[in-house]
Amino acid sequence: MLFFIDTADVEEIRQANDMGLVDGVTTNPSLVAKTGRPFKEVIQEICEIVDGPISAEAVSLTYDEMLAEARSLASIHPNIVVKIPLVPDGLRCVRTCAQEGIRTNVTLCFSATQALLAAKAGATYISPFVGRLDDISHQGMDLIGEILEIYTAYDFDTQVLVASIRNPLHVLEAARMGAHVATIPLKVMLQLVRHPLTDRGIEAFMKDWEKVPS
Ligand code: G3P
Repeated sequence: MLFFIDTADVEEIRQANDMGLVDGVTTNPSLVAKTGRPFKEVIQEICEIVDGPISAEAVSLTYDEMLAEARSLASIHPNIVVKIPLVPDGLRCVRTCAQEGIRTNVTLCFSATQALLAAKAGATYISPFVGRLDDISHQGMDLIGEILEIYTAYDFDTQVLVASIRNPLHVLEAARMGAHVATIPLKVMLQLVRHPLTDRGIEAFMKDWEKVPS
């Protein structure tokens, strides 16, 4: 399973990348707004740090504007994947992008049938938001299972990118289910690293090491 980092904060990206945990990056308008920096500047800097797919989101809602935005974003760097919302004009834009060789990440997916449509339109990635489903008392990870089942049955090329990950269990379940990608916030990546028995083990080894004669 590929690990993408879900942030627009370049320091967070550097920190995770230095640990070898970053195969790609996903951003969204809210994450970019948090940085307080201009969108293109942030995206360009991310492309310099990570050599992998970098999702940059289109913020238009009509086909023509979305497509113009997709073309402009894709021209920033060959690693750019254009994030497009799962609405009718978005699907139309995904289809055109696929014909033009522009990779897309269809975002704000909350049902398996939406994911089926995205795959039929030619999406490179589908982003089901598991945490936001959990927030409204739905089992977010069940959606991942349903999408994988459908995509496998029909041999779609679209990759399942588990998004809105909030905790290590989401990552564990995504990996066990065989999801292609998990996009993970730095906080959760660091939670995955830590184990109390590792910390206790290090402490004991350090103490014992002091008893070893020099
Ligand atoms: O980038 C999309 C997604 O990962 C957002 O996560 O936590 O805002 O639901 P969240």
